[in-house]
Amino acid sequence: MACARAFKGEELVITDYSQEIVDKALDTLKKEGFNASGIACDITNKKDVENLKNYVAERGSLGALIHTAGVSGTVQDLKKVYTIDLVGTEILIDAFYKIAIDDSVAVLFSSMMAHAVPANAKYDNALENPSASGSFETVSQFVGGSSDNMYNFAKRGVQLLSIKHADAWGAKGARIVTISPGVIETPMGLKAAEEHPERMELIKKATPLGRYGSPQDVVGVVKFLVSDAARFITATDILVDGGVIHNIKNMG
Ligand SMILES: NC(=O)c1ccc[n+]([C@@H]2O[C@H](COP(=O)([O-])OP(=O)(O)OC[C@H]3O[C@@H](n4cnc5c(N)ncnc54)[C@H](O)[C@@H]3O)[C@@H](O)[C@H]2O)c1
Repeated sequence: MACARAFKGEELVITDYSQEIVDKALDTLKKEGFNASGIACDITNKKDVENLKNYVAERGSLGALIHTAGVSGTVQDLKKVYTIDLVGTEILIDAFYKIAIDDSVAVLFSSMMAHAVPANAKYDNALENPSASGSFETVSQFVGGSSDNMYNFAKRGVQLLSIKHADAWGAKGARIVTISPGVIETPMGLKAAEEHPERMELIKKATPLGRYGSPQDVVGVVKFLVSDAARFITATDILVDGGVIHNIKNMG
């Protein structure tokens, strides 16, 4: 919603996995004077994503795909985290590539935790090819049964996907970038804070800027990445974490 509100005056298409969530968002946005429509789409379902892409194409040309859908490790299900956060991202990239044109941009949400996963050919090839047979099993070998770790790996995969697809998007004059938030006070961030209060307090103390992030802290960067000011930025990640990831890595 914060991302949507950053684009007043633009024609917005909103989605989420349930029509009820979409309708609630549209109701709020319309009351606030936004030009918005939307349909439900489970990003792990190719048919849904194809419908979403067609829905967008019927309304005009693609300015930006801002992909914020995801789940954290709190779902306690390795396959679910991998499928929604990584496979779903690739399905979206593939579908929206078909309607990408000159100056279109895809902004994909990764996470600062992706920066805690080092480059390693043993799993990076699987992360770059998330739908390939055996990829989930390969990545699973490195996460020690933890869905929080799987989240970190899947989010590294999101960054690798932007690099992998940048040539094809670039050939159309389009860009594809990732953004890696730190702890942000959204429903997902607050749920994690509730489940790991001590760890989250440590993270806040270890943040050079001394606080969690707000959705607005991230939205400003999304707006920049979508704008013409970022026209030479593609195939890279922007970390928006108040500087904390370096200190988290040192905590071990
Ligand atoms: N909040 C944080 O602290 C934080 C930190 C780092 C990265 N992120 C990332 O930022 C993005 C946005 O997170 P958020 O904090 O707004 O989370 P959120 O839980 O508030 O919102 C995520 C949305 O994704 C939707 N969703 C889940 N599965 C879906 C599916 N299969 N198809 C379609 N929609 C689906 C949910 O319904 C929800 O509305 C996520 O990718 C998240 O991993 C968040």
